[in-house]
Amino acid sequence: MKKIKVNNPIVEIDGDEMARVIWKYIKKYFIIPYLDIKIIYFDLGIENRNITNDKITVEAAYAIKKYNVGIKCATITPDENRVKEFYLKKMWKSPNGTIRNIINGTVFREPIIVKNIYRSIKNWKNPICIARHAYADQYQATDFIVKGKGKLYISFIPDDNKKNKPIKFEIYHFMDPGIAMGMYNTDKSIYGFARSCFNYSIYKKWPLFLSTKNTILKAYDGRFKNIFQEIYNNEFKSKFENLQITYEHRLIDDMIAKAIKSNGKFIWACKNYDGDVLSDCIAQGFGSLGMMTSVLLTPDGKTLESEAAHGTITRHYRLYQKGKETSTNPIASIFSWTRGLKHRAILDKNIDLKFFSEKMEKACIDFIESGKMTKDLVQQSNEKNKYLSTKTFLKELKIFFDKKMNKKI
Ligand SMILES: NC(=O)c1ccc[n+]([C@@H]2O[C@H](COP(=O)([O-])OP(=O)(O)OC[C@H]3O[C@@H](n4cnc5c(N)ncnc54)[C@H](O)[C@@H]3O)[C@@H](O)[C@H]2O)c1
Repeated sequence: MKKIKVNNPIVEIDGDEMARVIWKYIKKYFIIPYLDIKIIYFDLGIENRNITNDKITVEAAYAIKKYNVGIKCATITPDENRVKEFYLKKMWKSPNGTIRNIINGTVFREPIIVKNIYRSIKNWKNPICIARHAYADQYQATDFIVKGKGKLYISFIPDDNKKNKPIKFEIYHFMDPGIAMGMYNTDKSIYGFARSCFNYSIYKKWPLFLSTKNTILKAYDGRFKNIFQEIYNNEFKSKFENLQITYEHRLIDDMIAKAIKSNGKFIWACKNYDGDVLSDCIAQGFGSLGMMTSVLLTPDGKTLESEAAHGTITRHYRLYQKGKETSTNPIASIFSWTRGLKHRAILDKNIDLKFFSEKMEKACIDFIESGKMTKDLVQQSNEKNKYLSTKTFLKELKIFFDKKMNKKI
């Protein structure tokens, strides 16, 4: 069969542990035999990050920026135990954080739906995609314990006191010990978040909702609401109307009710903490982490990095290292390839490549719906105890996919 010609390169980022094991098979079985593609490869395995003093992560991020498509395997974010395990020179930062800081985008997480896997909410027939504003708020807050009686203030001292006046608010007069926190966000980051969300909404042709608690945090959450509305009115309204999709701000209480009652198929823009909690909640509600995709999209909608939402699946890797059988779900990792390739296809107007990525996604779904599953899925279906090992699942999926591809379309 003639390979599909891909005119521009993609950036591939290799990772760690069990995710790296399945990654190798995915590339060998599903990508190399079908695509005539230039792959710019970066090994972000923890050993190589250590050897290169983590320069490799920065280089990979700039390559994604240059070529506009990154396809990433899960990587270890080191903690004290990992520093000891791999004799690391230092506790290198999270590769995802480094990449996100360089290419500056929003993370969109979305489950892959298959009919024979139970969902906690029966009416969730389509995915709910969570967009998390992964910048500041609680994650860069200053919090502390108040030891006794005293006054708590918050103040802003302008650098240029001709333009702005200093501000000081009394927050609370403590009569007893307690706790306190100060947090912030920036307009620049919220504008970027808004543009990424509107662009992704257009890309998916799904409606967009932003949730905040603006009834309580009138200035803080109100700023999110106002910036989104301004960007919508000035830059996206007509595009949304042409596609017959909508944008709405909802109070988070309303939005939760809407999400629970809905059939899915919308993008839900969340503030940082809400997005952290809700994306785990949605992943659980839809089934397995092995079925959650994640993409990072820049505000201009041009650069996309895709990956599975799960980690390196250390627990399975420990079994694999001992030569024991594992049953690891490769679907989200396969989708990290298909979503990245689809973006390449859209940028290059490559219809064959777009069709290939959609066909591969459909093959994965059909395969599971035919009753072939890994252990994580079996536990949430009627196929009790009938699960395939990692290698058998991948081999059988390859045979299934090859048959589909060889059929005249
Ligand atoms: N995006 C990333 O690169 C990323 C994300 C999360 C964690 N991590 C890293 O991954 C390592 C392991 O972290 P963790 O154990 O907390 O998260 P994990 O996602 O690897 O595993 C959590 C649990 O989910 C299940 N699971 C996840 N993916 C699965 C799959 N494909 N098939 C079957 N079951 C699956 C496993 O039962 C596992 O016990 C850590 O070093 C962490 O730093 C990386």
